[in-house]
Amino acid sequence: MDQLIVALDVESGERALELAAELQGAAGGFKVGSRLFTLEGPALVRRLVDTGARVFLDLKFHDIPNTVAQAVDAATATGAWMVNVHASGGIPMMEAAARAALESAQRLGRPAPLVVGVTVLTSMDEGVLREAGVERPLPEQVSALARMAKAAGLDGVVASPREVAPVRAACGERFVIVTPGIRGASAGAERHDQARTMGPAEALRAGATYLVIGRPIIEARSPRAAAEAIVEELRRA
Ligand code: C5P
Repeated sequence: MDQLIVALDVESGERALELAAELQGAAGGFKVGSRLFTLEGPALVRRLVDTGARVFLDLKFHDIPNTVAQAVDAATATGAWMVNVHASGGIPMMEAAARAALESAQRLGRPAPLVVGVTVLTSMDEGVLREAGVERPLPEQVSALARMAKAAGLDGVVASPREVAPVRAACGERFVIVTPGIRGASAGAERHDQARTMGPAEALRAGATYLVIGRPIIEARSPRAAAEAIVEELRRA
């Protein structure tokens, strides 16, 4: 199902490819994060893309605009379907990322990847934000960063399921909202380290475009059966 992105948070490229094969048709895409990318590099992304899979390259770029543009250019060349940057890097940095995605895609003759902005990490609470100098309440900070991402020409944001509704209200129907932190119902009762969670159907109803789900699927005895149960819940939503 299109909306389900499975986080391939595994220890090797071989295991990632095995999981991707097992989940083909159930998952709408796969997320490659910084650990797997650091271990296996762009070759793994290309191999996943070659199987026909949509790959969300979750490297959360955050640097000066020129460096981020070059990183997005390199990410586009892997064939990634979606890439992300930290929205707190500012509007000029996000504008550079959006421009780089379009220019690289044009040069390479392929569709541009979606570029989304990370708002506030789900591991941060208001205390941690305040230490970093952010005085406003967390939901307001998320909505403000989402509006900046939209103004900079990004396709959407990554936000916790709890903030999906306010972001949807602030940024409109066409804005992509990617949400991790999915737990409960068909995604299982075990929360791991996710604090601000929501069930799959509930997150979709709140306005999420894509759900990123890792451990409830990849650590299940049958990842395929776990993914299918989630897809079934989403279909009924
Ligand atoms: O295993 P789980 O379902 O918690 O996986 C969620 C995935 O989404 C992990 O790869 C995690 O790094 C990522 N993520 C997150 N919270 C964010 C951004 C990314 O959990 N704010």
